[in-house]
Amino acid sequence: MKSIQIHGKEFEVSITEEQIQQAVQRVANELNHDLKGKQVVFLPILNGAFMFASDIFRRIEFEARISFLKTASYSGTTSSGHITQLLGLNEDIKGKTVVILEDIIDTGLTMESIIKQVEAHEPAEIRIATFLLKPDAFVKNFKIDYVALKIPNEFIIGYGLDYDGFGRNYPDIYTIKSERFLNLLIFGAPGAGKGTQSKRIIEKYNLVHLSTGDILRAEIEQNSKLGQLAKRYMTDGGLVPDEIVLSMIMLKIVENKGANGFIFDGFPRTVEQAKRIDALMREESMPISAMIALEVKTEELKRRLIERGKTGTRTDDTPEIIENRINIYKEKTARVKEYYREQGKLREVHGEGPIDDIFRNIEGVIEQL
Ligand code: IMP
Ligand code: MG
Repeated sequence: MKSIQIHGKEFEVSITEEQIQQAVQRVANELNHDLKGKQVVFLPILNGAFMFASDIFRRIEFEARISFLKTASYSGTTSSGHITQLLGLNEDIKGKTVVILEDIIDTGLTMESIIKQVEAHEPAEIRIATFLLKPDAFVKNFKIDYVALKIPNEFIIGYGLDYDGFGRNYPDIYTIKSERFLNLLIFGAPGAGKGTQSKRIIEKYNLVHLSTGDILRAEIEQNSKLGQLAKRYMTDGGLVPDEIVLSMIMLKIVENKGANGFIFDGFPRTVEQAKRIDALMREESMPISAMIALEVKTEELKRRLIERGKTGTRTDDTPEIIENRINIYKEKTARVKEYYREQGKLREVHGEGPIDDIFRNIEGVIEQL
């Protein structure tokens, strides 16, 4: 597929020249049918509409004039906070049928302002012809008489439309290629090395770390409402209810919009949580890319946790609680892995041996996503 780069962003063809020309021909036919016999002045809006205007105008089969207008935007002090001043209007349109030619109507704010200014010059009637319309973005209620193509609410360039002044020259329409998000779940029993490996993954791939355990422990430390609530479940090694954890995660995701991706550490712990986070991330157009599961034998897990309990700060690294955490993992959490296996998103990585070796295997998995 044809693609172009502007300012380091990649765009790929979404509407071909042929499809464009067919749609433009259709609009020209409609105009020829509707306006023959009238005194018509076409008013294309520069810069974007120059290509559309030229393709339309050379297909017009009656006598008509054309007069280009230009908009100048000010972020002004009106109630809408947005004025578009129209340059180039003159008295010639008084009593005439005018056809405003626009490249794209998005929210409709610009066009609404243009219509008002054209009306002030007392034409007999105003018709609107736009090359593109984004129906999902359109919030106004003026009538749009001619639409060549309707498109989803995505940023596009080409055929007169620009990104920061560039891209107007292409005869096709291009859509910005969606950024590559990397949303990873790091998974494993307590002591499998999730925290250690997450740190490295985050550094290399520039992800936002979402450790539900860390967030909860921080809340407990601050003795917040959430912390007090969570504490009751956490002190004996149990699971904090889904609602609490999910709302916490939601907050972090909203706070970090625009990140390269997230790494979920210690979450989801139940299939129910997995389904909910999947739905949430799909809605945000950042679906989960993969689950990386660190495989470590139970004896080794216990050895590591008891070791950590001797020097670390975590109060749940004691032999009895360790036993309980590992049991909960086996009973409830291990099922989450099967859930992602069914989706083809599970990547199992051997979690024993030198930390660097384990990380190298993880890198290998990520590069293949
Ligand atoms: P509106 O006032 O929201 O309808 O915005 C209309 C103006 O926004 C157009 O005249 C374009 O200059 C610009 N615009 C909206 N969507 C796009 C797009 O996808 N690509 C390039 N420019 C756009
Ligand atoms: Mg424009």
